[in-house]
Amino acid sequence: MRLIYEKSKAGRRASSLPRYDIPKAEVPEELRRTAAPRLPEISEPDLVRHFTALADRNFGVDTGFYPLGSCTMKHNPRVNERVVNLPGFRDLHPYQEEEASQGALELMWRLQEILAEVCGLDAVSLQPAAGSQGELTGLMLMRAYFADRGEADERRVVITADTAHGTNPASVAMAGFELKKVETDDRGNLDLDDLRAKVDGRTAGLMLTNPSTLGLFDEHIAEVSAIFHDAGALLYYDGANLNAVCGISRPGDMGFDIVHINLHKTFSQPHGGGGPGGGPIVVRDILEPFLPVPAVVRDGDDFRLDHDRPKSIGKVRGFCGPFGVFVRSYAYIRAYGPGLREMSEAAVLNANYLLARLKDDYDLPFDRLCMHEFVLSASNLKREHGITALDVAKRLMDHGFHPPTIYFPLIVPEALMIEPTETEAKETLDAFIEAMRAIAAEAATDPAAIKDAPHKRPVRRLDEVKAAKRAVVKFGFDEHPDLAPVKAEAGGEAIEAAKGA
Ligand SMILES: Cc1ncc(COP(=O)(O)O)c(C=O)c1O
Repeated sequence: MRLIYEKSKAGRRASSLPRYDIPKAEVPEELRRTAAPRLPEISEPDLVRHFTALADRNFGVDTGFYPLGSCTMKHNPRVNERVVNLPGFRDLHPYQEEEASQGALELMWRLQEILAEVCGLDAVSLQPAAGSQGELTGLMLMRAYFADRGEADERRVVITADTAHGTNPASVAMAGFELKKVETDDRGNLDLDDLRAKVDGRTAGLMLTNPSTLGLFDEHIAEVSAIFHDAGALLYYDGANLNAVCGISRPGDMGFDIVHINLHKTFSQPHGGGGPGGGPIVVRDILEPFLPVPAVVRDGDDFRLDHDRPKSIGKVRGFCGPFGVFVRSYAYIRAYGPGLREMSEAAVLNANYLLARLKDDYDLPFDRLCMHEFVLSASNLKREHGITALDVAKRLMDHGFHPPTIYFPLIVPEALMIEPTETEAKETLDAFIEAMRAIAAEAATDPAAIKDAPHKRPVRRLDEVKAAKRAVVKFGFDEHPDLAPVKAEAGGEAIEAAKGA
C-alpha cells in the first residue's frame, strides 16, 4: 500500500472554503514559520479511502475472535458508548465545582463500593490509569505502611512467582524493593517449600496473580496467606485475571491486602496498544490512610473530594483518574444486575470447553480444570515436525483468528495462552477449535505451509526484532539524512521500511 505522502499531488485539498473577507491575523515575526509545513496534499475521497484501507488492514475484537491470554479482549457493548456520551458525563470539566459534578462523583463512589465488594476489601482509589500503574501504586502503599510502622529499613523484599507478568518485577524495582522469585510446583501452584525458605523478617510482601498466568487457581492460597501474614508481611493481588472469579471468590477473603483491578479487561473498555485503561487500587482498612488523594467520599446525600489525608502517598494521576473508563465499567457491571458471577462463570466455562477439545492435539503442561484461560504448549509439534508456537500463531491468522499470547508464561516452553472470555458464542469457539486442530494436522502433512504463514494477511512474516528495534515512523523525504544506515544495511537498496513503518 502506498503511503499518503506518495499519493500527494501539489495543490490538492481535502476541503475548500470561500476566502475569508476578514483581515489576516498578525503573527509576530519570531513565531512565523520559515517554510510551509510539508503535509500531504490529497482530495477528500482519496483521504477517506486511504484511512479506510489502513483501518481494514487492522485486526480487532470487532473483526474476529481475539483469544489473547491475560489480556481479556472481550466484546465492548455499544451501550457503554451511549452512556459515556451522555452530555452530563461527556462535557464535564475536571475543574468543575463539586456541586455541579454530583452525578459524576456519585458514579465514582458507587463504582468504588462495587469494587470493594467484588474484592472483599474496604477502601478504593480509582486514580491509577492502568494495571501496571496500579501495581506501582500498591507497592508504594506497602512501603508507606511499613515506613509508618518504623519498619521501612527491614522490610525490603517483595516476592513474585516465576509465572508473574513482566510488569510485576518491574514495579517491584521501581518501588525500590528487592525482588525474589518463587518457583511453581508440578500442579501449577506456588511451591510451598521454596516459598517458606524465602519468607523472613525482611519480606515486605507477596505479589501474586490468582488465578495465575497459567489459568490455575492456587490450591494452597490460604496457606500462602498465612505464611506471609505470620511473618508480618502483606499480600498484593495482581487483578489482571479477576475476570475468572467475580462474585465467586474474593481476593480479600483469600487473604490479600492490596488489589489492583484492570478495569479495561474485566469490565470492558476498548483497549490495546497501551491504552486507555483503568487500574484502581482496593485495600484492607489498615492501608486506607495511605491511598492517593483526593478520595471520593459520601456525606449523607452529597458526594465530595477529600484532600485531607495526611498519610496519603499523594497523587498518582491527574484529577480523579480516567473518568470515561469508570463510566463504561459501571455500565458493564450494572448490565449484569446483581448477577456479576454469571460473567465469570461463562468465561470459565468457555475456557474449559476449549481446553477439553484441544488437549489431545497439543501438549498440556498442567492437566487440571482451568479458570478463565489456559496454557497449551506446541512442544509436541516442535519435537515431531519442527513447528513452533510462533508458527501456530501465524497460521491462525490465515484462519481469521487473532493469535493467542505466545511464549508466556516463561516457564512453559512453546506456550500458547488462550483466553476466550465470556462474550463468545459456541460457534466461534468451535470454529477456533477446528482451526487449531487443522494446524496440528497440517504440521504433519505440510509443515512448510505453516512455516510460511500468514499467506492471506496484508503483511506476511516480518523480521520482528528489526520491526521493533528499527521502526521507521516518518516519511523519508530525500533530505532526511538519518535513514542512510538503514539503506546501507539493505545493500544500498531502497527498502520498504525506509519510507515509513
Ligand atoms: C498478569 C498481568 N499483570 C499485569 C498486567 C499489566 O496491566 P496493564 O496492561 O493494564 O498495565 C497485565 C497486562 O497484560 C497482566 O496480564
